[in-house]
Amino acid sequence: MSEETPNSVTLEKDGNVAVVIVNNPPVNALSWHVREGLANHFAAALADDSVEAIVLRCDGSTFIAGADISEFGKAPRGPDFNAVLNSIEQATKPVVAAIHGTALGGGLETALVCHYRVAVPSAKLGVPEVKLGLLPGAGGTQRLPRVVGVEAAATMTSLGDPVPAPKAKDMGLVDALAGEDSLAADAIAFARTKIADGPRPTRERAVFGDVAIIEQLKTANAKRWRGFDAPYANLACVEAATRLPFDEGLAFERQEFTKLMFGSQSAAQRHIFFAERQAAKIDGLPKDTALRDVKKVGVIGAGTMGGGISMNFLQKGIPVTIVEMQQEALDRGVGVIRKNYEASAAKGRFKPEQVEAMMGILTPTLNIEDLADCDLIIEAVYENMDVKKEIFAKLDSIAKPGAILASNTSYLDVDEIATATSRPGDVLGMHFFSPANVMKLLEVVRGEKTAPDALATAMAIGKKIGKVAVVAGVCDGFIGNRMLKPRQVEAMNLLMEGATPQQIDKVHVDFGMPMGPFQMSDLAGVDIGWHRDPTRIESIRDALAAKGRWGQKTGKGFYDYDEKRNPTPSAEVAEIIEDFRQHSNKAKREISDQEIIERTLYPMVNEGALILTEGKAQRASDIDVVWIYGYGWPVYRGGPMFWAGLEGTDKIVAALEKHGFAVAPLLKEKAEAKSGF
Ligand code: 3HC
Repeated sequence: MSEETPNSVTLEKDGNVAVVIVNNPPVNALSWHVREGLANHFAAALADDSVEAIVLRCDGSTFIAGADISEFGKAPRGPDFNAVLNSIEQATKPVVAAIHGTALGGGLETALVCHYRVAVPSAKLGVPEVKLGLLPGAGGTQRLPRVVGVEAAATMTSLGDPVPAPKAKDMGLVDALAGEDSLAADAIAFARTKIADGPRPTRERAVFGDVAIIEQLKTANAKRWRGFDAPYANLACVEAATRLPFDEGLAFERQEFTKLMFGSQSAAQRHIFFAERQAAKIDGLPKDTALRDVKKVGVIGAGTMGGGISMNFLQKGIPVTIVEMQQEALDRGVGVIRKNYEASAAKGRFKPEQVEAMMGILTPTLNIEDLADCDLIIEAVYENMDVKKEIFAKLDSIAKPGAILASNTSYLDVDEIATATSRPGDVLGMHFFSPANVMKLLEVVRGEKTAPDALATAMAIGKKIGKVAVVAGVCDGFIGNRMLKPRQVEAMNLLMEGATPQQIDKVHVDFGMPMGPFQMSDLAGVDIGWHRDPTRIESIRDALAAKGRWGQKTGKGFYDYDEKRNPTPSAEVAEIIEDFRQHSNKAKREISDQEIIERTLYPMVNEGALILTEGKAQRASDIDVVWIYGYGWPVYRGGPMFWAGLEGTDKIVAALEKHGFAVAPLLKEKAEAKSGF
């Protein structure tokens, strides 16, 4: 062992059983020194004649949770992982993995080279590499089909979801369940029972199961995997295991792993793994800032947003008081919540009694004074500054001291809203995305006077209800909607110059977005923000709204829709566009797909650069998180700011200048340095 090696692996002995212990907090990742420690201590245990069996276990909260992702892309250090695993598998004494917490990725691959596996019932085992744009690159795709069969191996590798230990036992992945508090001792006892049987190298076991599952998985997940390379590479490796000898299968796996590892998709997905965790950190705020207690939540407004927001808390067992002005609206809102839960229950997501328990902690009321005992109050009424200020002034007199007063506004000035109260330190924005019970993003808007503990509490409660929370500063549209604006403006300009809604949407969908700008307008409602005067027609959008083309809800918008909401291009819309073009004297020309990218996506990067310069986002990766979780930006492109680096900031600046955009100084700087964000 080299001198600087941390002592992350140790060796103990319990009679005739050697116990190799990994201790590499926080998640026992397979950093170079762990690999080195494993190699050395296994060699020592094998060389010791008094040792008849070996147990591998971990200290801390978990078994090995995978390769050390932070080492990826760096110069290799320490022994090769596959070589270490091969030496464990070829051990001449039986080796038992003792699993608690999560055995993930390289962690499960380590457990798979052990000859036997015992686990506590609360443990989870899986190969989530696909979620990082990768595949299990240390034999996982070749050993799993030999242990759990082709069906389970194909499913586990391509979907990446972990399996609970009791199920893993049924699948043959775990040989025995241990006591929750006696894993170390139970594993040693189990190892002793295997001394007579001897080693059972996984590579020598036969692959079993039906390879037909591979095509079935591809068909079932075609939509979900659109644009992704990794799920298909995982399946190709499992398929290879069914026809190639072990070592050839391993070589194929290595080749596929290397392709993914050095490709842009995995780089993007790894970036998002860390970006998501980084987003939770608030600059300038100590990690141990004391949080406020949030035991009860109030929601003002029982419309789509208010109802969806409430559902998040009810699902976590946090009581919600929901306020409306009219009984009818209140009943309708509560009815929608129940209907949504019952629909989920019908799909098996909840038990009927869980639905009743959630509805049982929802208190509907017409009296805003009932919010007096709430620790967090979220206002979710329509976007009007005067209305919001009136509500916050009322809350100021009703809410208990220390209650957090949040607005779900999607673009209004949170600082101005805060002036309606005598406690601006308690005021912030909590911007949920529709449907609020489904979408993962939460923008937490930090006002000028928002108290640090109020901000930290809002971020923590966001995490508790399963959201990815990102801090945004006060500006029109915060991070997400502010960047959406230039995209929408330019999409409309392109229509005037000769592009069609379907061409622009297709470019965005081919890029990997779930839908394009016009499909999004039709879904959200073309009439949103419309002045409601059918005689005042100043834009293509006004013309559509005046003709009742409000989008999917009226069966027509930028597209025509059938009863099943299938879109077809609209002759009427084409005429409206043509009419506007002629009146504006714009010449119609052929627009290339590349120009659509340059004029709709590059300006988003530009706006992102301005947001960063103004300090409205803490870091570029936060912007990426917003776009991945709030708008469906393809995760394999890492978010707009990461993508700018892939695309080349110099190329982006040149194109923006060519099209006459004012380029943000920060973006120019990056282009000159030929760097990303
Ligand atoms: N490598 C490096 N750091 C890791 C890591 C890993 N594999 N997994 C987690 N971390 C870090 C996180 O970045 C975080 O760091 P921070 O505190 O500085 O932000 C810290 O460990 C704690 O992680 P979480 O906040 O995610 O803790 P949780 O308790 O919520 O979750 C977990 C724990 C379930 C293990 C989760 O971290 C996880 O899913 N990790 C990734 C697991 C994974 O993908 N493994 C496969 C890796 S690829 C591989 O093994 C390739 C192989 O086939 C060759």
